[in-house]
Amino acid sequence: MTKAYEKLQKCLACVREKTDFVPQVALILGSGLGALADEIDAVATVDYADIEGFPVSTVPGHRGRFVFGSFGGVKVVIMQGRVHFYEGYSAEDVLLPTRLMAMLGAKILFLTNAAGGVNKNFRAGDFMLITDHIMSLFPNPLIGANVDELGPRFPDMSEVYDAQLRSKIIKTAQKYDIPLQQGVYCQLTGPTFETPAEVRMLAALGADAVGMSTACEAAAAKHAGLRVCGISCITNQAAGISPTPLSHEEVFETANRVAPLFRQLVRESIISFGEA
Ligand code: HPA
Repeated sequence: MTKAYEKLQKCLACVREKTDFVPQVALILGSGLGALADEIDAVATVDYADIEGFPVSTVPGHRGRFVFGSFGGVKVVIMQGRVHFYEGYSAEDVLLPTRLMAMLGAKILFLTNAAGGVNKNFRAGDFMLITDHIMSLFPNPLIGANVDELGPRFPDMSEVYDAQLRSKIIKTAQKYDIPLQQGVYCQLTGPTFETPAEVRMLAALGADAVGMSTACEAAAAKHAGLRVCGISCITNQAAGISPTPLSHEEVFETANRVAPLFRQLVRESIISFGEA
């Protein structure tokens, strides 16, 4: 057994001491989007700090706990706050929460994030359904001993973002009249925002949005056999497209401004996952 799997087993035992809840959907909430967890009738919560060995997020706006509950009969575990590479965590630690939620029983991972708009047609406050990602600009997070208990050494990535789930999200957006862009998300490590030259490079590579999370979690979930989907909240135009300097405050402000609509889209999409 790998060390990574041993650690996961310990974390799982810690959570199982507190709740026997088996989620269908795992939901990761990005910067400024955490309030969705307050809308669920929580049947249990588990603070990351109470899980032995669990990486605790240091970023303002990331709460640091699992919330268990249901949206319209669909059982959900919400990660209210995630951990990032730029905080100094190893790839193994960044992937641990996603893998743990898979071990709790989740079959679907729903990713959300705040992202910069690389596509010039995108405006701050837009939502983008993630159709695919680019993760190859830093070391692959699955490098190292493969966790055979979770998935294969060479996982297929030809459809990371499940077509059927994407179609349900598109239908949900249409039903509630919520404008929805679609595009490719590129993950960089951060914590610097990009330079304008880097943003031009990303555009040339085919990216529509850029951020500091998500693709690695999607890859870990796909490795573990989960169905994956994700929506970016475009909180700002990327550097060089935006006429003003970038800041975490701007990211937070935009995310907060559009959060009610974003929450509606995510919640109703999850409910639609429970329908045939
Ligand atoms: N770049 C990277 N990450 C981000 C951005 C950005 O412009 N906006 C929100 N997260």
